[in-house]
Amino acid sequence: MCGIVGYIGDQRAEPILIDGLKKLEYRGYDSAGVAFIDDGAFHVVRAKGKLSCLIDKLKNMGSHSTIGIGHTRWATHGKPDEINAHPHHSRDVVLVHNGIIENYNTLKSEMIKKGHKIISETDTEVICHLIQDHLDQDMPFLKALISSLKKLNGAYSLVILNRNNPDHIYLARKGSPLVVGLGEGGNFVASDIPALLAHTRDVTFVEDNEIAVVSRERALFYNLSGDPVNKEIKKITWTASQAEKGGYKHFMLKEIMEQPRVLADTLLGRVDLEGLSVNLGEAGALLETMVREPEFRLKIVACGTSWHAGLVGKYWIEDLAKVLVGVELSSEFRYRQPLVTPKTLVVAISQSGETADTLAAIRESKRLGARVLSICNVVESSIPRESDATIYTHAGPEIGVASTKAFTTQMAVLYMLAIKLALEKNLLSDHEASQKIQALIEMPKLIEKTLGDLKPIMRMTERLRNKKHCYYIGRGIEYPIVLEGALKLKEISYIHAEGFAGGELKHGPIALIEEKVPVIAVVLKGQLYDKMVSNILEVKSRGAMVLALVNAEDKDIQSHFDEILHIPYADPDLNPFLTIIPLQLLAYYVAVDRGTDVDQPRNLAKSVTVE
Ligand code: M6R
Repeated sequence: MCGIVGYIGDQRAEPILIDGLKKLEYRGYDSAGVAFIDDGAFHVVRAKGKLSCLIDKLKNMGSHSTIGIGHTRWATHGKPDEINAHPHHSRDVVLVHNGIIENYNTLKSEMIKKGHKIISETDTEVICHLIQDHLDQDMPFLKALISSLKKLNGAYSLVILNRNNPDHIYLARKGSPLVVGLGEGGNFVASDIPALLAHTRDVTFVEDNEIAVVSRERALFYNLSGDPVNKEIKKITWTASQAEKGGYKHFMLKEIMEQPRVLADTLLGRVDLEGLSVNLGEAGALLETMVREPEFRLKIVACGTSWHAGLVGKYWIEDLAKVLVGVELSSEFRYRQPLVTPKTLVVAISQSGETADTLAAIRESKRLGARVLSICNVVESSIPRESDATIYTHAGPEIGVASTKAFTTQMAVLYMLAIKLALEKNLLSDHEASQKIQALIEMPKLIEKTLGDLKPIMRMTERLRNKKHCYYIGRGIEYPIVLEGALKLKEISYIHAEGFAGGELKHGPIALIEEKVPVIAVVLKGQLYDKMVSNILEVKSRGAMVLALVNAEDKDIQSHFDEILHIPYADPDLNPFLTIIPLQLLAYYVAVDRGTDVDQPRNLAKSVTVE
């Protein structure tokens, strides 16, 4: 999510850090900062907004130090302002962080009790104080760092300076990427390869639960027991543009592939690992007060992909929590007299947080007295700012216009919301809730498995590449998924694509079926399996070419299909997390095959801030 750089060598650190941060700008950020050690003192400069604001400040406050660290922040905890911007520091420790510390609140209270002063709202600042606390007990730096890391729950990559040792940069990693670049006359540190490429192509990756100590001459690696670890030096052969995309050809593919990690990030700190509770912060408190109202209703407003996530959410919330949910396109909602009251919780879903129609829908809802909860990916964007509470999806910057990882994380938030409401209404026992949460925690691994099976996608791509029309069918909770699959295909490949509920075919759409027309069917084991099989036979007998997503090892029906793609078995409620993955990949590969501009399809913008 955030961008990290570091340098130690015989040149001035400042221009190297700024240049590195510029190379990471494509990732999106809302504030930036750098820290140096100058004559035994920390020199920290931070600014809200673009790097140009930081550069302006550095004109008067620059540094000649040859050791420094830098950061571009994509806010997750606390608004994007100067106080929350990294680097953060205590007396002897200054650091930058990428990731999410789950137990920061508990640690913060402990540190405050011990007399530490913590001024930001971040989950990062407490780490400086934790290390400081160990240093104050006369521990050597490395030992203080290791002891502190053992107290952190969550994900991190950390790059740290010690005021008393201007000859070393310390690194630690668990879950978030970090790489050391080995150069002539100095060494480099970064969260991503693009920041290093101008200086070196020899790199060593820091692995999970490793720390590194980087000096001007070398980088040494250790495990958390303090034992040395031997590392391989790798040569990077990517071009600068490939490197920005993590080696992938397009941002969209990178973002599809990131889904296991960002889904895990979205669950971090919200579901108890023991599987017993759902912590939704201020949003949880809002739900707790409103759910007791006898006329409590939910109204979801959103556009495009976010609207599809809302449709999936309706199935979960009505099924588990028995709360009536209306899901409406924001652009429709805003121009009618919607029936919302002070007993209604309007849930606005938006990746960007700036979608004009959704913003107008929440303003109208508030005018009518409703409370607004937003599910959003961009901290402090307009929609969260105007909401009563927000649950942030921790998908990180989404750059491809076609939304992918935002969708998966929106679904994760909606599923947690459904469990939370069901628990509040005593409709789930602790045991049932725990099973559901455990199944959700398993999803990143199953998504990883689904992402690994590209051969059937390539065969399907071959069959779709020259088609003019393509239909998607699914039932129940897979109905919104086929709508989303069709949206992905149409927006990036420009093939006309429509999603239908299987049961609706006979009410009209089946008239479209003719010889060789592609129909993509989601037909997983479960309640509506037999009904879907009948729908497939209906289109097959009219000549359709059927490409099907079936459960692994479902041999019974395979003979009816022209191509099959296997979806791992999972809790049926959670199948949408798995079925959307091949549909995203299929849209992507078909678009690549047709040579369209995948990341910036014609006529579309990432953030639709006008009507
Ligand atoms: O930022 P938002 O989630 O509010 O955006 C909503 C839609 O504009 C967005 O999902 C759009 O449909 C995407 N291009 C879909 O891939």
